[in-house]
Amino acid sequence: MRRPLVAGNWKMHGTRGSIAKLVTELSVQAMPADVDVAIFPGLIYLQTVLAAVADCAIVVGSQDCAVQMEEGALTGETSALQLQDLGCSMVIVGHSERRQLQEENDGVICRKFIAAQSAGLTPILCVGETLAEREAGLALLTVQRQVDAILLELGVDVLRNAVIAYEPIWAIGTGLTASPEQAQEIHAQIRAHVAKYSASIAQELRIIYGGSVKAANAAELFAQADIDGGLVGGASLNADEFSAICRAAGN
Ligand code: PGA
Repeated sequence: MRRPLVAGNWKMHGTRGSIAKLVTELSVQAMPADVDVAIFPGLIYLQTVLAAVADCAIVVGSQDCAVQMEEGALTGETSALQLQDLGCSMVIVGHSERRQLQEENDGVICRKFIAAQSAGLTPILCVGETLAEREAGLALLTVQRQVDAILLELGVDVLRNAVIAYEPIWAIGTGLTASPEQAQEIHAQIRAHVAKYSASIAQELRIIYGGSVKAANAAELFAQADIDGGLVGGASLNADEFSAICRAAGN
């Protein structure tokens, strides 16, 4: 049985004041015991947030990490070991905003993935197609290519300690959510693809959905057989909304 995960990606949002308020509000929310809850604040707020949620069952992760695990001469970057040292346990890799705006390609993402895992962090690998790719019937091929960039390079075993987030780019921050059926179709196909390498790893692998998830649509999405939770952007900045999404992932 896969344990659901709801992850809040705060992106480049917040100030010291607004983040202190958000974590205070989050820490008093009723969170479901049968769901893993994780939040991903901006790098400069990680330490504050880690301290603030130390007594709650909320995990803190980073939105990115460097391509190498250990410290070194990489100005402006943060290594996975430094994140682990701080107390992080997860890291998002390959978010579409980084693929598009920072021109991160599959090779870079693969290096970040293994750097994260080597430092003991669980990577959340984001995959997803553009609207043009979907309209051209290329959604599945795109997602498979992104998954294969990891699998063919690192082997299927790395998915034992990883999460895949399916995030159709046309649904991120647009208010356009993939329908539960559209999302389920791709999730099932990702799982079937991984099963070609290892049926048992595919069965255990958590595949979460991201793209305009909110309290109003979460339960229907999470009810799908292959959707194991969500990666939530905008709605994770509101404690009531985010905790309602977390509860929707529970039983
Ligand atoms: P959104 O973002 O929920 O605001 O659409 C999701 C994401 O980018 O992870």
